[in-house]
Amino acid sequence: MPLSITPLSETIGAEITGLDLCVCAVESALAQVRAALRDHLVIVIRDQRLDPRQLLAALRLFGETMEQHLTSTLMPEHPEIAVLDSRKMPPDKEGQVIPFGARDWHTDHTNHPRPPKLTALYAVKLPSEGGDTSFANMHVAYDCLGADEQARLGQLRAVNKIEDFAYISDEARAKFAARPVHPLIRTHPDTGKRALYVHPGKLERIQGMEPEESRRLVNELVERVITPANTYRHRWRIGDLLLCDNRAVLHRAHRDYRMADGRVMHRVILRGEVPV
Ligand SMILES: [Fe+2]
Repeated sequence: MPLSITPLSETIGAEITGLDLCVCAVESALAQVRAALRDHLVIVIRDQRLDPRQLLAALRLFGETMEQHLTSTLMPEHPEIAVLDSRKMPPDKEGQVIPFGARDWHTDHTNHPRPPKLTALYAVKLPSEGGDTSFANMHVAYDCLGADEQARLGQLRAVNKIEDFAYISDEARAKFAARPVHPLIRTHPDTGKRALYVHPGKLERIQGMEPEESRRLVNELVERVITPANTYRHRWRIGDLLLCDNRAVLHRAHRDYRMADGRVMHRVILRGEVPV
């Protein structure tokens, strides 16, 4: 089957078929896939059958893997892979069980000085219904703001911290204790486009503002800029390998499924740049 790339919405996402990442992909096909990722920010490569070693080999075609802080989820033989299994989701401090990635719209691992440029999710097991993930194009969101607001937000810098979840070990907490500061509006290193860049759950505060005021500002902003016009909701199929450009996309998992059914994603993140 020939390689085919089809947009999944007007503003974000493309589906790729006719590519088997188990087999050594030819460079011309990879160049098309990388271009699709640059242009569409989220790509879904359908119908993959990748064991952990093959998954890592495939993803290294796109960059360098980096370590993740959800240490209890890491695959022992391949710690670059986090196994996000809804059946093993521990409760948070309030006793609530909320699936990974389903609390808010966010970009991943902003508590790192060099957060991941890409997050890869590989669908291994799905619930009988629901469990979609949504993605929002933050270049489009930024471009819809007025010039005054763009200028104002462009001055702001966010202080990031790791969340206070019981399932993040003391060891991981100590290791990732730095409080990196990232611009609230960042410029994509490959395209020069600007984007809102924030993880509300990891936001300690905006520099020069109180934490509560900072959270209000970010929550109101995210709520306002994410619209159906810049969003794509992905309904998973087993064997989907999805890559998301964290530098320009916010995402959120939906919580509309029975966690006991089992929704299992293998997640890998690829090292990015210092955001500017
Ligand atoms: Fe996430």
